Amino acid sequence: MAELFDSIGIRAMKLPHRIIMGPMEKGMANRDGTLTQRYLGYLRARAAGGAGLIQLESTYVDTIGMGHLYQVGCHDDSVLDGLRAAADAVHEFDARLALEIYLGGRESPSFMSGLQPIAPSVVPCEVLHPMPTPREMTTKDIDWAIAAFCAAGRRLKKAGLDMAHVHGAHGYLVGSFVSPFSNRRTDSFGGSLENRARFPVMLVQALRAELGEDFPIGYRLTADEYIADGLGIAESAEFAGMLAEASVDLIDISGGFYESNYMIMQGSESPDAGFLSHALQIKAVVGDRALVSVAQRLSRPGVAEEVIAQGIDMVSMSRAFHADPDYAAKRRAGRAPEIIPCIACHHCVDELEANRVADCSVNPFTTREFLRGVGRGDRRVPSPVVVVGSGPAGIQAAIELAEAGSAVHLFEQRDVIGGQMAMAADVQGDFHRFLDYAVARLQRVGVTVYLNSRADRGLIAGITPELVVVATGARSAPLAHLSESEGMPVLGLFEAYGQITDPGTIVIAGGHVASCILAVHLARGGNRVILVEPGDALAADQPGWGREQIERLVHNTPGIDVRLETTVENARDGSVQLQAHGSSEIRTGVDIVVVGGRQSENALAEQLLADPNFAGRVLVVGDAVRPRNIHTATLDGMRAATLGAAAALALV
Ligand SMILES: Cc1cc2nc3c(=O)[nH]c(=O)nc-3n(C[C@H](O)[C@H](O)[C@H](O)COP(=O)(O)O)c2cc1C
Ligand code: SF4
Repeated sequence: MAELFDSIGIRAMKLPHRIIMGPMEKGMANRDGTLTQRYLGYLRARAAGGAGLIQLESTYVDTIGMGHLYQVGCHDDSVLDGLRAAADAVHEFDARLALEIYLGGRESPSFMSGLQPIAPSVVPCEVLHPMPTPREMTTKDIDWAIAAFCAAGRRLKKAGLDMAHVHGAHGYLVGSFVSPFSNRRTDSFGGSLENRARFPVMLVQALRAELGEDFPIGYRLTADEYIADGLGIAESAEFAGMLAEASVDLIDISGGFYESNYMIMQGSESPDAGFLSHALQIKAVVGDRALVSVAQRLSRPGVAEEVIAQGIDMVSMSRAFHADPDYAAKRRAGRAPEIIPCIACHHCVDELEANRVADCSVNPFTTREFLRGVGRGDRRVPSPVVVVGSGPAGIQAAIELAEAGSAVHLFEQRDVIGGQMAMAADVQGDFHRFLDYAVARLQRVGVTVYLNSRADRGLIAGITPELVVVATGARSAPLAHLSESEGMPVLGLFEAYGQITDPGTIVIAGGHVASCILAVHLARGGNRVILVEPGDALAADQPGWGREQIERLVHNTPGIDVRLETTVENARDGSVQLQAHGSSEIRTGVDIVVVGGRQSENALAEQLLADPNFAGRVLVVGDAVRPRNIHTATLDGMRAATLGAAAALALV
């Protein structure tokens, strides 16, 4: 039976193991689709970190199919130099590079290219804003598209890449032909599965003719669109058989399309390896005619091993490599606890959707590989260092400074590290992975951690630190007019975690992310929760996919009654007055009211900054500056470590 770290071949290409670094757009190319030095640094780090086969990202074969402003292109010869440099960078570490070629089709926002998108039928994608209306492709357009894919194939081969991977998943042009939801044609490219499969099969055959018998060709397939009238597993398994016949070497199983985008990249609420059963059904159809790989939530140790043990040939992991460039090497060496784990927070995809660089919440060096080592080397590091607060900002600063050589003392007033992450971890389960990693890493780099220890000015002064990093996080916002309520408890957001022990009816005023998480936490504990938000959406302090994930979590949790565009006017003796659109409602039988906002916990920062004894030695990071998110916290932590070295230099 094959194992995860057994080598494998795809035609003439030899791979060291069975983990594919899956395709991820990073918003890191130039506006003209060429690769940047920053992109090359990202790739080099992952190849050096043990990746075997690297699939770059959705790469447009013509600008009409672009998805984002800073996406990689393979649409004309101007991209060749960059692709060649990428192949060279990856080959240096004996990894292999595949390009995922695509056209966005009905899922292309037309403002990227200024062109009307093309699609099998006029079925606009309602989740895109603004929503473009595609034009139905003529048979001439179909020939043109096949020629464009072949030209891209020619280019990637010429640039020295090792594999062409057709993006037939996630509802983009190629996959939308197979989908009965997106393809409503009545000609020979629509109707029966055979007709809907005609364009992708012709495309693969043309690519094979273009690239020759030795060149590996892959195909990413959405096995299930998770929508009524969409593509389901029975048809996609049959279609996979057609792909194998058309000489596809690797069929990579994913799921979902934009209308069911929550299936494309899943969060903590989803099980590991959710597409495995689909992959097994497809493997049963294609047999030895093609290799089959599967994507989605496979990075937890043991999961990928089980997938391979069940007979799937390879596993695809995307966010795991984004969070930790050394993922494969650490797994191979049995160093899994050292892996920086993805917490499925959706920050990267939200950045991408905003046409910004898709950096990572848990690893501030992701997409900033050029910063690795800044502040290290011969530079003097501050030592000793006191870090106050062990949320993600404090953790990041402590780790970086200790690795650079500082003696770091980390103080945490609670009995566990993690700050707000630790509070949210029972709801957002993947946070536990990060906290477990952080505990192990802090220990390994030699940080002295003091739990149940509130650091004040005197205690800190006793250590005579050269640098103090204040990462005290956030506290509950003032209770405002509700604090005057009589006859019933009114709590702040954070107090609610510890003080609500007996199940009852709880009103939470304010529906930001932290309140939503508290609502789920309380509802799971048997409480009835009325979540009251003055605005028209929950979790509005988080963008896009991340917001939708939280919203889904709330709506799928029994026991939460969501009231949008509603305010809590007053609370008295178990009654709460809610106001919506000029009319009010009295809710009786309420046990507790929680006021959901956060504000910076910056009292210590203010004290130290005002104290001449600490002049030039204090850096304030994370939510202690302003309540934000995990990404800004770790980024602040990393900057503090770098700045700390600079501050120490200034003191010499
Ligand atoms: C920021 C981001 C960008 C992505 N870009 C692509 C892409 O360009 N092509 C693609 O096929 N899938 C893309 N995906 C989906 C991933 O390849 C992968 O299928 C998904 O994240 C689930 O796998 P994972 O749990 O290993 O991350 C992207 C995912 C993320 C988070
Ligand atoms: S930003 Fe969040 S979802 Fe994306 S790779 Fe990093 S931890 Fe995972």
